[in-house]
Amino acid sequence: MDRRSFLAATAATVGGGLSAQAQNYSDYTQDPRPDVPEGTCTAGSLDGPVLAGSPMVMGPAADAISILQPMQRMGTGYLEFAVADGPWQRVDGGHAGLLPLSEHVLKFRLPPLPPGQEVRYRIVAHTIGWVKVRQFYHGELKAGEPQTSEVRSFRTLDPDAATTNFVVWNDTHENSETLKQLHERTSPLRPDFMLWNGDQSNDLHFEQDMAGQILNPAGLAVGDQWPIAYVRGNHECRGPAAPALAQFTGAPDDRYYYGFRSGPLAAIVMDTGEDKPDDSPYFGGMAAYGPMQERQAEWLKAIVQEPWFRDAPHKALFCHIPLWFRHPKLTANAFDGHRHCRGLWEKTLVDAGVKLVISGHTHDYLWMPADANRPIGQLIGGAPQPAYATLIEGTATHDELNLKMTKLDGSLVAEVKLTA
Ligand SMILES: [Fe+2]
Ligand SMILES: [Fe+2]
Repeated sequence: MDRRSFLAATAATVGGGLSAQAQNYSDYTQDPRPDVPEGTCTAGSLDGPVLAGSPMVMGPAADAISILQPMQRMGTGYLEFAVADGPWQRVDGGHAGLLPLSEHVLKFRLPPLPPGQEVRYRIVAHTIGWVKVRQFYHGELKAGEPQTSEVRSFRTLDPDAATTNFVVWNDTHENSETLKQLHERTSPLRPDFMLWNGDQSNDLHFEQDMAGQILNPAGLAVGDQWPIAYVRGNHECRGPAAPALAQFTGAPDDRYYYGFRSGPLAAIVMDTGEDKPDDSPYFGGMAAYGPMQERQAEWLKAIVQEPWFRDAPHKALFCHIPLWFRHPKLTANAFDGHRHCRGLWEKTLVDAGVKLVISGHTHDYLWMPADANRPIGQLIGGAPQPAYATLIEGTATHDELNLKMTKLDGSLVAEVKLTA
């Protein structure tokens, strides 16, 4: 084939759409979008305020910290952190050398940090936008002026600490009043970590809303001064934006099951997935939580053998859907997830000495002590409505694990004391 007939054949193959000539980007006389004026921002954002709200520190273990910064314009950036009085160190997010680019959130995974240390951090970001130049639709890349967040700090968990204190929220479901009051109750406690036990949202509909749902709920800075232990609820499995959850959370390895140690407490977080069987028509063929729960069962068998867990004075499981549940309003098959998880995990938990499950989901707070039919005590937190919402405060020493569940007005709902 000579050159002329090769070009003709290529043009024929391209057919119907762009001509071979229009793809020649060195030909300035050809404009693929005559309707778009020169200088138009065709992607990203031009200079302007780029950071939105406050960052959230997630992990919670010192070797599994991610920090997420909400954005209000498309931009890129990096994070700087300093341990105690040490020098600033830079963390680039993104992947394979390309820094992150997002209009909603920048996520930075920190290297393993030393335990029990104050860590200062700040985010530096700028807008990124592309403007049309001649026929080049994304002709020129324009970077905005760098903007630096204020310096914030948190303290890393210390597995060797003599004591720990923590708080648990659950089922806040975007209720602003409840979130505000939980935050007001939590701040003076300055917990070592805050565990958010699922159903942060009323389903995940739009990525543009997710930073507001998870990172700055009700516009509050709930996770910039202590690490958040993130637990996925069934509502974070729902909606067209649910696949984007990992962009807005910092669970270790982006899995919603993990373990960590804070002083005398060894904690396991597990992912109970959805509340109905995978083949429920409600999920439209998108559910495979059963196999994930089986993988967690194998993971659990291994992790409870690790010394940090095995040798801890207190062992607790945090999971959104309770492992034991009865409710007169629900038919037997309307709430199947808990039976599947319990069947897979219970023996390992009991054999490993786990003595407490802390859950949510039912919107009906309840303490269920261990008994002949239930080998592990289970504490279920309250509802999204302020009148039924609860705050769980936990403290542990070597000898005792104490939990206090109160309503938002401070009235006591349940008190649990477990000994080593
Ligand atoms: Fe809920
Ligand atoms: Fe739930």
